[in-house]
Amino acid sequence: RRKIIIDTDPGQDDAVAILLALASPELEVLGLTCVAGNVALELTAKNARVVCELAGRPDVAVFAGAEAPLSRPLKTAEHVHGRTGLDGIALPEPAMALRDRHAVDFLIETLRAEPPGAVTLCTLGPLTNIALALTRAPDIAPRIAEIVMMGGAYFEVGNITPAAEFNIHVDPEAAATVFRAGVPKVVMPLDVTHKVLTTRPRVEAFRALGTPVGHAVASWTDFFERFDMAKYGSAGAPLHDPCVIAYLLAPGLFSGRHVNVEIEVDSPLTLGMSVADWWRVTDRAPNAMFMGDVDAEGVFALLTERLARL
Ligand code: BDR
Ligand code: CA
Repeated sequence: RRKIIIDTDPGQDDAVAILLALASPELEVLGLTCVAGNVALELTAKNARVVCELAGRPDVAVFAGAEAPLSRPLKTAEHVHGRTGLDGIALPEPAMALRDRHAVDFLIETLRAEPPGAVTLCTLGPLTNIALALTRAPDIAPRIAEIVMMGGAYFEVGNITPAAEFNIHVDPEAAATVFRAGVPKVVMPLDVTHKVLTTRPRVEAFRALGTPVGHAVASWTDFFERFDMAKYGSAGAPLHDPCVIAYLLAPGLFSGRHVNVEIEVDSPLTLGMSVADWWRVTDRAPNAMFMGDVDAEGVFALLTERLARL
């Protein structure tokens, strides 16, 4: 079983990613570390627990981390995710408590306690917690198996500004730190996630599971869809974050290139842009496996089959 820590800012698509991980026997979820992003930290830390309880897993360790980016005010995305961050269905207040350790301490202590290469970090939100951990404890970098991240864009350019993807844009300094750390990385950019669309038949397949989880996922994706279909004119909403977990379970569904990725931290116009050297026109050393294509039918088949187990 592969040990993972999910760093997250739920978020409906984060919630689906967490459910996919908890439904998969190949993965051992050591903990969820929450970060401010789609909504404020208080809500992401609550939403993570709502999702664990929905999955029947109140035993999962959930930690609260950074409440703001490293050096900028927090920018949230209620226009996409709603006021609660999990709009679409009303779920019970969580009874399970947050663990009393800070998420960054949990990350550092776990990576030091586990054998080198044993723990994979799955990042679904702004990279503040991960950057704080790497800066405070540089010794953890070589112990991380890999970072599998939802963030960035190349041909698809941006969603929160014309040039930048939300997770990177919200804390570009944190993203720059993570991209510079010598840790193997797999990146799921908008180029991939904008192909993983919640079309009508796919949402109906979730609903047809006939379970509380299936109902919640259908309701969340319905909500999400309203925004994205209007914005992009697409057949459904992109299910960004589950791509990270799907990659761990079925890497063959994705293809990409090992390239150099740098993060813009200065320009007001392109702040948080992920500059991927897709065509290898520089001699900058490759630092990430940047995905470009996906078998979306395969992702939805996997997701639906796994959600049925919860
Ligand atoms: C990313 O931003 C958030 O709104 C989603 O949860 C996803 O992680 C997509 O740009
Ligand atoms: Ca997210």
